[in-house]
Amino acid sequence: MEAVRPGFLNLKLSGSFLSQYLSEMAADERLGAEKASEEKTVIIDYGGANVAKPLHVGHLRSAVIGESIKRILRFAGHKTIGDVHLGDWGLQMGLIITELKHRQPDLPYFDDSWEGAYPEEAPFTISELEEIYPAASLKSKEDEAYKKEALEATYQLQHGSKGYHALWEHILRVSIEDLKKNYSNLNVEFELWKKESDAQPYIPGLVSYLKENGYARMDQGALVVDVAEETDTKKVPPCMILKSDGASLYNTTDLATIIMRMENWAPDQIIYVVDKRQELYFTQVFRCARKTKLVREETGLDFLGFGTMNGKDGKPFKTREGGVMRLENLIREINEEMLRKILENHEADPEEAKETAKVVALSAIKYGDLSNQASKDYVFDVDKFTSFEGNTGPYILYTIVRIKSILKRYLLQSGRDASSLKDLGILPAASESEKALGIALTGFAPAVRTAAEELAPHKICGYIYELSNAFNRFYHESKILTEEKEAQKESYIALLELTRRVLEQGIDLLGFTAPERM
Ligand code: ARG
Repeated sequence: MEAVRPGFLNLKLSGSFLSQYLSEMAADERLGAEKASEEKTVIIDYGGANVAKPLHVGHLRSAVIGESIKRILRFAGHKTIGDVHLGDWGLQMGLIITELKHRQPDLPYFDDSWEGAYPEEAPFTISELEEIYPAASLKSKEDEAYKKEALEATYQLQHGSKGYHALWEHILRVSIEDLKKNYSNLNVEFELWKKESDAQPYIPGLVSYLKENGYARMDQGALVVDVAEETDTKKVPPCMILKSDGASLYNTTDLATIIMRMENWAPDQIIYVVDKRQELYFTQVFRCARKTKLVREETGLDFLGFGTMNGKDGKPFKTREGGVMRLENLIREINEEMLRKILENHEADPEEAKETAKVVALSAIKYGDLSNQASKDYVFDVDKFTSFEGNTGPYILYTIVRIKSILKRYLLQSGRDASSLKDLGILPAASESEKALGIALTGFAPAVRTAAEELAPHKICGYIYELSNAFNRFYHESKILTEEKEAQKESYIALLELTRRVLEQGIDLLGFTAPERM
């Protein structure tokens, strides 16, 4: 340390201090990242797919961001519970039931006098189901009577019609099976597969609780809770609990779900990863839950609103024909583009290349999303996201694969086994680029701490991008495997192994993995 005029302190990091720190980091399973001082139970409400509607790109962001937030908080030492909170109770159910009734009126589900058991087999497949919903939705927009029928069917389903209930169970089973497949392809996994309908049993109790404690009032036949506050600069309308016809709403379900969550898991925090256009709605729900004491005073309720995923034209992402892009098709397109790039790069076994393309494509999709601050809109740019250069998922994976390949050659050369690499000693840096890499590595702990505090996966992206750049500069300027001094070579290898572990931990927090080769 040195004082210079007119009043600066210059700090110079000593090479031996840095190499000591890096050795300690390498010896630590958590790579130097401390655990949160107290363990919290956090429920993350993400995914939010609607049963029987095909997953579209709008649901991609919630799944990708929510999964990463969950992994980051888990790594920080919290108990995390991801809940997909499926939409299974609204008008879409009535629409499907109505359309089925028109197509197959003889099914026993529509026969009020039916006494026997209902068939085990669903009267539709997933592809039929996915065709039925848009057809029904379209009809209901053009045909008033049809719409009324669907509303009536929704009401009947929600009020105990046995036949409709049996049909609804078929819809759930068929569509959840398909959703599980889709989410698993995205490397997204939920601890809970709860649905809107699971909260229904809590609604009658909620309504009488709100009435008895004077929280709710009648307004033109509807039951509402006022949630406006004096300091509001924009109008926050009352939270509607029951419509004048007695029907419950999205609101009601969310409040009932909060009760269910508090009873079963007593979370310290619930984080909702939802389109930011629902922000006002969640303001109402959170204020209502607090005011009516459905949660403890210290329970955190957080809304993590994300922006829209746009196409290159700056408008919400569409297919080439201008329709809503199905998630499956989007993934297929990226897989194909990735495969093309991989085969263009080098010759490869077609089967292996296909598997690799899938892994790399997922990194392109997820990193493309997560590297932006979640609340911002972003442009889904296939060419940019799948590029091996620049701030992209494939670039990060390329860096990891490069390191892995050097390590593999070293293992062959030295006869060591992989698990011994982390015990190799790290020497003080021999060059400027090596020191820069060392300093970049020390950024890991603060990066994950900030990401966890701010619920900000883009901080992880920013960090691993810088680390990759630092590594690649070091790599281009150094001889590693041809280094003659054995201790120096071992030190380089130790640095590489540490870099690999940090990068792989980083992408794990983002929710994707690296292939062995690419
Ligand atoms: N199903 C909803 C939608 O598609 C998202 C659910 C978000 N979570 C919640 N607890 N409301 O918009």
